[in-house]
Amino acid sequence: MSEADLVYQIMPATAAERERLAALPVFSMSAQSLGRKVARGDVLLAKVGEEIIGLLIAELYGFFDENVVSLIIVDEQKRRRGIGTALVEEAEKLFGKGKLFMATNDSNAPMCSLCDKMGYVKVCQIDVPGEDDPEIVYLKRL
Ligand SMILES: CC(C)(COP(=O)(O)OP(=O)(O)OC[C@H]1O[C@@H](n2cnc3c(N)ncnc32)[C@H](O)[C@@H]1OP(=O)(O)O)[C@@H](O)C(=O)NCCC(=O)NCCS
Repeated sequence: MSEADLVYQIMPATAAERERLAALPVFSMSAQSLGRKVARGDVLLAKVGEEIIGLLIAELYGFFDENVVSLIIVDEQKRRRGIGTALVEEAEKLFGKGKLFMATNDSNAPMCSLCDKMGYVKVCQIDVPGEDDPEIVYLKRL
């Protein structure tokens, strides 16, 4: 499949997809916690047909009472085709107005670059004692 042929849709995860999502290795959270997020509409999926090729978890008031994207991941084989950007754009539409935070480790060049490109600005750095890869917090006013 060429880049031009990749037709995908962005949509909220449904309760029926909860089990499939919980089985993905990226999830360290419990099925119960994931289920709550799915029920609230906080989990967006990028799908080609029934295949899940990307996901984003967006939490309303999840970061010091502000909106935050807590996880975004795209299938390794399908990266660099705009899917990450499309997921974040959908989250921005969902939140409408206000502030949206994203965070990633300083060493995560792809995510830092995505944040820069989408107009997010670095607002702070969280240094975790004993670790040398700080969490960089980005913000955009929608
Ligand atoms: C970060 C991630 C979600 C990006 O998804 P993606 O679908 O590849 O992103 P896009 O195609 O929309 O890329 C948008 C921009 O991000 C930047 N970017 C993406 N991948 C990059 C890479 N490997 N190197 C440098 N910049 C990169 C570029 O600026 C890119 O724009 P460009 O292609 O026009 O240069 C993906 O790399 C991923 O799943 N990483 C593993 C999970 C992760 O680290 N998530 C973030 C922490 S929660």
